[in-house]
Amino acid sequence: MFILKGCSVQVIATAVFFIFGRTNKKLMLMKLLDGKVTLITGGARGIGKALAIRFAEEGSLIAISDLRDDEQMQATVDEIAALGVKVKGYASNAASYEDSELLAETVIKDFGRIDVLINNAGITRDNLLMRMSEEDWDAVLSVNLKSVFNLTKAVQRTMLKQKSGSIINMSSVVGVNGNAGQSNYAASKAGMIGFTKSIAQELGSRSVRCNAIAPGFIETEMTHKLPDDVRQQWVSTIPLRRSGKPEDVANVAVFLASELSQYVTGQVISVCGGMST
Ligand code: NAI
Repeated sequence: MFILKGCSVQVIATAVFFIFGRTNKKLMLMKLLDGKVTLITGGARGIGKALAIRFAEEGSLIAISDLRDDEQMQATVDEIAALGVKVKGYASNAASYEDSELLAETVIKDFGRIDVLINNAGITRDNLLMRMSEEDWDAVLSVNLKSVFNLTKAVQRTMLKQKSGSIINMSSVVGVNGNAGQSNYAASKAGMIGFTKSIAQELGSRSVRCNAIAPGFIETEMTHKLPDDVRQQWVSTIPLRRSGKPEDVANVAVFLASELSQYVTGQVISVCGGMST
């Protein structure tokens, strides 16, 4: 009887070890964004592309939109597809309300849901106020801020129905601190922060979260336009003494999209090497 009992205990222990061990291994193999569907605007290059690749590495399915479905978009799509996740690229103007509605509808048709929206599309038209044209003001506000309204509105019904979702708005340290020569850009990025905090309050009761990232000086085509001396001057004021990489921003976005941040909403996280304190 004892031997039988001992045997059963051993068998049970082995079975528990086997099952638990396997489950544990499975848990260890799970990625932070496994199975989530992420829509990223302005995803063909720069920070948007880095976000798309990093999210794919964490197991997310990827929808990227950009102004044109060109070679750059195709190259990004191919790079993500090589990681073994479903990916689609869409030509869509984030500043257009109609385009944004259609984009959200199409992504839902293609992927079945949207778990994460990253409002990343953005432009600069820098000038001192005395030289800034009405057109430059309108273009920046429209692409950087109205787009956030357009896309958030377009996905909110789906996220509310799902009772989950994470919206991440790509603001800027310039939206927090201001910057001479960028009043249009700073106003648009500050507007995104007010929008983020308001939407967090509106959608929080349905577990839909909304946060903003405020990158500092990140090396992309947008910053390559700046003269070398201006870039050097920026870098010299950064406590970590280097410019940021798109991947630095992508890592924080993964946190905000994943369950690791499930009690975080309405926040602005700076990714700026300590520039904005
Ligand atoms: P980027 O210029 O390299 O990429 C922006 C992407 O947005 C491009 O692919 C562009 O085609 C797309 N885009 C522009 N207008 C669009 C529209 N109307 N509809 C759809 N897509 C559109 O810029 P980067 O540096 O990658 O910036 C990404 C975001 O991060 C922007 O919102 C930018 O303001 C923000 N940011 C960037 C910083 C930097 O240092 N690079 C610092 C702080 C914020």
